[in-house]
Amino acid sequence: MKEIVLSQQEISAICKRLGKEITQALASDKEAPVLCCVMNGAVNFMVDLMREIDVPVLFDYVQVSSWEGTSSTGEVKFIKDLSLDITGRTLVIVEDIVDTGLSMHALLEHINKTRKPKRILVATLFDKAVARKVPVQVDFVGMRLTENKFLVGYGLDYKGLLRNVPYVYVPTEEEIASFDELAKMK
Ligand code: IMP
Ligand code: MG
Repeated sequence: MKEIVLSQQEISAICKRLGKEITQALASDKEAPVLCCVMNGAVNFMVDLMREIDVPVLFDYVQVSSWEGTSSTGEVKFIKDLSLDITGRTLVIVEDIVDTGLSMHALLEHINKTRKPKRILVATLFDKAVARKVPVQVDFVGMRLTENKFLVGYGLDYKGLLRNVPYVYVPTEEEIASFDELAKMK
């Protein structure tokens, strides 16, 4: 039996709840807010969440990377920056999981240094606060994790694999080992 952390039904309920909260937070904005997907992990969450947001929004994405396999390298690489001009607009960053906080911290610092948004809001499916290494802003949380377990599915990956699983679960060590072979690039 798989150790399921969030089923498809639970994910759907979270997206509905957060969609309402974010809609409320954005309701008084005069300029269209920008939703920013943190690729690749937040892709599934972004698609489901944005359909529950009931105000006109623009869409953009960034790509940062700090993880190899099942742990953070601590070094954050910027692969893709924002394409839109977010000056004077609310930026809603949508992330799959805030773990050590290093990626979100670096991303917020980078955006604050290079852009002039009206404000930044952070939405994350998971908040793994027990693993936090730097304090970081989080405004909307799908699920708070009280245990430091490695999760896969629904965008969360092991070596690029398992993002397509429609729910989130804790993989066994044997399963992880079996994916090492599959993940090797030829
Ligand atoms: P942080 O910089 O340690 O907060 O981690 C940020 C990124 O690492 C997240 O956006 C995820 O893409 C990835 N990550 C963190 N925890 C997990 C996990 O349990 N499973 C898969 N990916 C994770
Ligand atoms: Mg991510």
